[in-house]
Amino acid sequence: MSERPSGWLAGCLAALTARPLLLFIGLVSFGVLLIVGQMVRFSASLAQTAALDEAARTSNTLAEIRTIYTAEVVNRVAPYGIVATHLYSTTERAIPLPATLTILLGDRINSAATGGYVRLYSNYPFPWRTTGGPNDDFERDALAALTANPTQPFYRFETFRGQPALRYATADRMRASCVACHNSHPSSPKLDWQVGDVRGVLEVVSPLDRVQATTDSQLRETALLIGGGAILGLGVLGLILRQLGATTRRLQTAKERAEQAQAQLQVETAERLEQEASQTRLQREVIDLQQALLAELSAPLIPINKDIVVLPLIGRMTAERATSVSDALLEGIHRLRARVAIIDLTGVSSADGATLGQLVQGIAGGRLLGCHIILTGIQPELAQLLVALDLDLSQLATRATLQSGIELALKLRGR
Ligand code: HEC
Repeated sequence: MSERPSGWLAGCLAALTARPLLLFIGLVSFGVLLIVGQMVRFSASLAQTAALDEAARTSNTLAEIRTIYTAEVVNRVAPYGIVATHLYSTTERAIPLPATLTILLGDRINSAATGGYVRLYSNYPFPWRTTGGPNDDFERDALAALTANPTQPFYRFETFRGQPALRYATADRMRASCVACHNSHPSSPKLDWQVGDVRGVLEVVSPLDRVQATTDSQLRETALLIGGGAILGLGVLGLILRQLGATTRRLQTAKERAEQAQAQLQVETAERLEQEASQTRLQREVIDLQQALLAELSAPLIPINKDIVVLPLIGRMTAERATSVSDALLEGIHRLRARVAIIDLTGVSSADGATLGQLVQGIAGGRLLGCHIILTGIQPELAQLLVALDLDLSQLATRATLQSGIELALKLRGR
């Protein structure tokens, strides 16, 4: 039992913190309720204050009227043999007693349709006042309260004749002038009155409905205004927040899409780079392979027997190729320990002077290794070039064909 409510409250709080808009609406509604509640209370107390004021004023007025009537009328006409009696209407040369006047005034006020009500009553009514005693709870309570505390008005807000009303009672106390008559009157129900005693109660009733109705209608209008304003404000706020939320969501989605695209792009770029790299590797490998093959093919050293090698050259002779042919020749001669090397130029289609010079220099290097060099198959234009170069060919043997070159080589080995 002690766990449940706190858990429930915590849940509520968590839910509200998670939804600040809900919390805000709740707070605003609470505030509006608080204001309206405050206004209802205020208007009720306003109506009560107004009623109290009115009742006190009426009560006071009635008391004043009686005092003035006693001092300025009853006392002044008395010397002329005019008596004040409750039986004034059937008595000659008589006027109403002050209390009778008050009772009369009350009757008159009660019969008018103003909603007001005035009554003078006591615990000791004169015999002819059959309704002079207390008639209900309030009247009994008022008599008791005012007897105990005569200076303090006694009042209560309660339903009176079907209407919400203020019932306001004040004490009517005995003065010296009153006591003499009341203690000597033949019909007086009590003969030991003393000054200060509460003889009776003057009650004034103020209906609340009119004041209340006015303040209520004003209150309703104000409450409607406040409530309407709050609802309108919350509505506008809600709309703005919704718009904001939608925009935020749109932006979020766009951002996510952009991020996805970027990631995709990065992956693709990486893949492409990787592809390019592997392609480059492959190309390089192919090129290396081709170059190796080419190198091998461009200078194929063919051993005829253990002493003689043949180097048949085919195609265009370039400076690069001339270098690699020289290298291959020197390396082959050294490796195979060849004594005679035949370089067959039958298949060489074209070459320029510089290239040819380079080749002859390489061949001369072969001579230094102690190897005989025989050039065979020299085409006419190559021969012209060789002559034009004015190279020292004395160390080189030349033959027209590969066949005669081989014969020479065999002869050389035979020696
Ligand atoms: C001349 C004699 C006389 C004097 C003075 C007098 N009264 Fe009375 N009073 C009466 C009579 C008679 C009645 C009955 C009147 C009626 O019923 O119309 C009465 C009625 C009352 C009542 C109504 C009682 C009830 O239950 O019906 C009150 C209260 C009262 N008087 C108070 C006073 C006070 C206070 C004074 C002094 C300021 C005073 N009277 C002065 C004779 C007098």
